[in-house]
Amino acid sequence: MLLLGIDTSCDDTSCAVVEDGRRVLSNIVSSQVDLHSKYGGVVPEIASRRHLELMVPVVEEALRTADVSLKDIDGIAVTQGPGLLGSLLVGVSFAKSLAYGRGIPLVSVHHLEAHIYANFLREEVPSFPLLNLVVSGGHSDLILMKAHGIYEVLGETRDDAAGEVFDKVAREMGLPYPGGPFLDKIADSGDPDRFFFPSPKIECEGYNYSFSGIKTRALLQLESCPDRTRCIPHLAASFRKAVVEQLLGRVEEVLDIDGASAKALGVSGGVAANSLLRKEAELLSRRRGIPLFIPPRDLCTDNGAMVAAAGFYRLKAGKIAGPDLNAFSDLELESWGR
Ligand code: KG4
Ligand code: ZN
Repeated sequence: MLLLGIDTSCDDTSCAVVEDGRRVLSNIVSSQVDLHSKYGGVVPEIASRRHLELMVPVVEEALRTADVSLKDIDGIAVTQGPGLLGSLLVGVSFAKSLAYGRGIPLVSVHHLEAHIYANFLREEVPSFPLLNLVVSGGHSDLILMKAHGIYEVLGETRDDAAGEVFDKVAREMGLPYPGGPFLDKIADSGDPDRFFFPSPKIECEGYNYSFSGIKTRALLQLESCPDRTRCIPHLAASFRKAVVEQLLGRVEEVLDIDGASAKALGVSGGVAANSLLRKEAELLSRRRGIPLFIPPRDLCTDNGAMVAAAGFYRLKAGKIAGPDLNAFSDLELESWGR
């Protein structure tokens, strides 16, 4: 079964063709970074207008790359939310009209769910329960996925998301937008033990996260650096280590208690492209004897393939969206499986 997956939740216009929820035939992501970088962040109005211009060419390119035509497509999956409302509306409206025009089913997908399903874009898929850490520009969530479409959110961020703090600290360091990947790179040449970051555990109950303390400390330390050029690699390395330690520390706690039955560990979302997080997650998985699923970098950041993967399982369960489908900027993750 061939599904077209569309994501326009933020500033990437993306469309993919995926077979049976696992084989990626094409995955086109048209980034708007150049447009937004001079503002240091995404400008929602500009993003939605650009999605409108890019939607048709990106879909055409996805079909062309997959070497299929619209007639071969069996269904369309689209991100319904959360995200920027104007951006989401472009994808949802386009997907609705295309599905209606072609007379094929439409399925809506939650963006966090899509990030988890990036770990299913492979021949050998994770077993359930899957404990998945979703870390992106908008989310830092620890989710126990018990079966297809059955989610229990065990922890989430109380303030900033992991990607957000990477971007904010990187911006103050004078790195280009979006800062996460640039900070990651510069951190490789620094000493991670040069700056001390206390663990925010005490203020943070349950399996929740809190990154604003780490962010503020990083910004204050940056301000007091006598020589910024020499200090930035060390600060970036120490900051990255503090974020990764908190992210994986919670994972270990869950594995000890509520997620003790987990058969697989997943890490996904844009921040899963982080080299230290990938390395440490791998070590954790070996130490705990639990298989790790972490997508290749291009499937960590926003893409249409993960939407098609999630949509495939929704479609199989008969969860078809009607013509009244709407986009929601703050959509909650709800279970739909049985
Ligand atoms: O999943 P994503 O593409 O979009 C959202 O759903 O938010 O995630 C984007 C986020 C950005 O904050 C970006 O800086 C971060 O992922 N990111 C990284 C890395 N690559 C992307 N953060 C740290 N290290 C990276 N290598
Ligand atoms: Zn995302």
